[in-house]
Parts: sequence; C-alpha cells; structure tokens
Amino acid sequence: MKDKIAIVTGGNTGIGRAVVLELAARGAKVLFCGRREEEGKKVEAEVASSGGEAKFFVCDVSVDSGVREFVQKAESLYGGLDFAVNNAGIGGLALPLHDYPEKVWDKVIDVNLKGTWLCMKYQIPLMLKRGRGAIVNVSSVAGIVGADWKVAPYSAAKHGIIGLTRSAALEYAEDRIRVNAICPGFIRTEMLTGLFRSSSDPADAERRITGLHPLRRLSEPEEVAQAAVWLCSDESSFVTGVALPVDGGYSAK
Ligand SMILES: NC(=O)c1ccc[n+]([C@@H]2O[C@H](COP(=O)([O-])OP(=O)(O)OC[C@H]3O[C@@H](n4cnc5c(N)ncnc54)[C@H](OP(=O)(O)O)[C@@H]3O)[C@@H](O)[C@H]2O)c1
Repeated sequence: MKDKIAIVTGGNTGIGRAVVLELAARGAKVLFCGRREEEGKKVEAEVASSGGEAKFFVCDVSVDSGVREFVQKAESLYGGLDFAVNNAGIGGLALPLHDYPEKVWDKVIDVNLKGTWLCMKYQIPLMLKRGRGAIVNVSSVAGIVGADWKVAPYSAAKHGIIGLTRSAALEYAEDRIRVNAICPGFIRTEMLTGLFRSSSDPADAERRITGLHPLRRLSEPEEVAQAAVWLCSDESSFVTGVALPVDGGYSAK
C-alpha cells in the first residue's frame, strides 16, 4: 500500500482510528475526518510519531458541502484517491420504535446512511479518473440481522448501507471500483461503552452482549481494521459486493 491515497471517515476514535493507524503503517497516505478536532490531532500525532502520514480534517459526513470539500483534498493534496473506508457512524438512542423521536431518526439515517452515500458520491469520481479503486463501507451485524436492543433506526440505516454497497458494486464493477461492506459485531469502542453506560446494570449488559457472540468475547477495533484494510488491498482483488461479518459468529446463528 506504499504511497496509495486513502480516506477514512470517523478516523479520530474507535474502529476508524485503528483503520487509520493500520493503513498508515502499511505506507498509505491517509486523509481522515471526524467532528472532534482534539481527538483527530491526537491520532495525527500518533501516526507521525511512528513515521507514517495521516492528515485530519473536521468534516460532518451528513453535510454535502463539507464532504465534497474534504474528499477533494485527496486530489488537491495528493493527486487522487485509491481507497476509502466510510466508517463514521452514530448509534442514536436505545428506545422502542413507537417512542423514537423523529429528530433522532433523521439524525441516525443522515449520518449513517446518507453520510455513506455522500462520501461515495464524491469518492467515486476520483476513482473513475484513477481507473480503479476500493471502497469499504462500515455496516454492522445489525445490518444483516434485526437488532433486539431497541435500535431499529440504526439497524435500518445499517441494512441500507448494505443495499447501497451491493448496488454500487454492480454499478461500478466495469470501472474496476470494488465496493464492499464490513459488518462488525460488538467492538470495544466509545460507541459500545456508551451503550453499556446507558443500561441500568452495565456489568450485566456487558455479560449479555458478550454472550451473543459464539466466540464468547467482544472484539478489539484492530480486528475489524484488519478486515477493512484487506478489502482495500489487492489481496481481495476478486471480492466485490460482499457484506463481510466480523462478528465472532453472531450472525451465523
Ligand atoms: N462498536 C461497535 O460495537 C460497532 C458494531 C458495529 C458497527 N459499528 C460501526 O462502526 C463505526 C465506528 O464506530 P465505533 O464503534 O468506532 O464508534 P466511535 O468510537 O464512537 O466512532 C465513531 C466515529 O464516527 C465519527 N462520527 C460520528 N458522527 C459523525 C459525523 N456526523 N461526521 C463525521 N464523523 C462522525 C466520530 O467522530 P466525531 O464524534 O468526532 O465526529 C468517530 O470518529 C460506526 O459506523 C458504527 O456504527 C460499531
């Protein structure tokens, strides 16, 4: 991946941060975004201290003009784009569907689903110019099976990402742009600790959630990053249109 150009959204924490570190360690030049600058600058410094190159930009993936400006940095700074990992996402609230506020529904769909589309909307023209490319969209196990922890809007958005991914894979296959999704189970990140904290008994919630995975543990962000980076790399050159579970067997049941 030496000197390839990569974009990672939501790269300042969690899974996205692990993807940024792994791509940079393999020699890619990485542009990554999020809304929180302080966290972004920390990751930038972490990459620099290990001899890699990654630049952080503040960008909200649900805002068209911001995404356009961010993605175009790949062309203005480095001359093009080879890989994109569209990872930015939010969980929303854990509430029964009939109690869910419309504003939060809109936000969950806007960031997770519309955000993924907006990123692809601006990434694909750069890859068409390049004559090839690889895109990895981050869905969830809740994009493959229904979620029974009261996050139906999140699950709907993550199912949507898989539809978007498969259709884009077909639409751009002849242009040599591969488009895949990864579907993580429960991963130790801020999003998950937030879910535990919102429970009346966090230790019990962690036990129950761990038990949903046949491998009987939660995953670390680095394990998901390995799958995302593989799907970017030429090692997966004949893989497109898949929704790859990285879920400790959760969706196999
Ligand atoms: N953790 C899990 O168990 C799990 C399981 C399945 C799927 N996933 C998916 O994995 C992805 C990463 O989540 P994570 O677990 O690593 O959680 P996380 O640590 O909370 O990371 C979420 C990332 O998305 C960014 N983000 C959120 N809203 C954004 C927006 N509007 N514009 C730009 N960036 C935004 C956040 O940065 P800012 O807040 O600074 O914007 C942060 O970098 C998400 O798509 C999530 O749905 C996670």
